[in-house]
Amino acid sequence: MATNRLKILKFPDPRLRTVAKKVTKFDKSLENLAYDMLDIMYKDNGIGLAATQVDHHIRLIVMDLSDERNEPMYFVNPEYKILDNHSLFSFEEGCLSVPGFNEVISRPDKIDLTWQDLQGNTHNDSPDGLLTVCIQHEMDHLEGKLMVDYISPIKRDRIRKKLSK
Ligand code: NI
Repeated sequence: MATNRLKILKFPDPRLRTVAKKVTKFDKSLENLAYDMLDIMYKDNGIGLAATQVDHHIRLIVMDLSDERNEPMYFVNPEYKILDNHSLFSFEEGCLSVPGFNEVISRPDKIDLTWQDLQGNTHNDSPDGLLTVCIQHEMDHLEGKLMVDYISPIKRDRIRKKLSK
């Protein structure tokens, strides 16, 4: 594999506010970007990473929720609907773009998820647990939204000051 030149953008970098474009070409360069993202995510001990975070503004997410770190998942052009019978699930979230800070965030725990794989095949599932909240966190990135948008402005400002140093 070529040298991984990806760098993770850190809050408050304005590029993290970019809305990502739909992937239309399922080619080798999409695959390579996904593998490079996975690589950098593993290195930084993350469980999910959106292309936005490495300054590639396309709708691509990589994830691995396994303890052994050997079950990579790829989500291209993901979309979700919150199901009517959901409750709120609170989870202490971290983010590689907001290093050193964890915040408890509540998100709907039941969604209907549709996505494409790296070859362009469409999949649909109703996940639960960690995958549900993690995919919502990552899909926020594709909309230019960050975990710090869910907390109080005072706290957000404190994090901004610390990370801007
Ligand atoms: Ni994140």
